[in-house]
Amino acid sequence: MRITIAIDGPAAAGKGTISKAVAAHFGFAHLDTGLLYRAVGAKVLAGQEAIAAAQALVAEDLDVGDLRTPDVAQAASKVAVVPEVRAALVDFQRSFAQRAGGAVLDGRDIGTVICPEADVKLFVTASAEVRATRRFKELSDKGHADTFEDVLADVKARDERDMNRAEAPLKPAEDAVLIDTSELTAEQAIAAAIAEIDAKRG
Ligand code: DC
Repeated sequence: MRITIAIDGPAAAGKGTISKAVAAHFGFAHLDTGLLYRAVGAKVLAGQEAIAAAQALVAEDLDVGDLRTPDVAQAASKVAVVPEVRAALVDFQRSFAQRAGGAVLDGRDIGTVICPEADVKLFVTASAEVRATRRFKELSDKGHADTFEDVLADVKARDERDMNRAEAPLKPAEDAVLIDTSELTAEQAIAAAIAEIDAKRG
């Protein structure tokens, strides 16, 4: 059975939590496509050129060090503006989406550009303040020293860049179902996503 689930949305809206839980629930493979951009961003911070780094990216690059730091997130959002960087990452994502047994891909442009034919498209969102509060908690639990204001400014800067870039900007696909997680617990958000997928699969 081939089924592709596209889950898009802004930073820290809950895409990762929902995608992992959905993949585990249905037994589908999961690709966090933000990691591809983060891996390229980390290489740029280490002195490489963005396009060359994206073209040379291999699966092992997704496992190196901590790609989930604020610096890497900003670098990822910056390299993600470059059309050649995006182009270099398309094939990997599309072949992942075709996996037998089902695939969940989460990112910014999965339902609009990478998998416009996805069987189910979800757009997961929440207010910038709620997202920054969640990200702030995650980062302070990991020992990062950033203040709430730093995190909120980072979230807003990334939203701005991700939504306003010319190539594959962050926006819901026309046929995406919106899930606003501002007032939902993780369990409620996961249940809402599973219910949408069950409904679409019939
Ligand atoms: O989902 P994330 O926070 O790990 O993504 C990091 C950055 O990568 C994000 O700010 C924009 C970029 N990105 C993208 O442009 N397209 C995707 N499909 C996934 C991420």
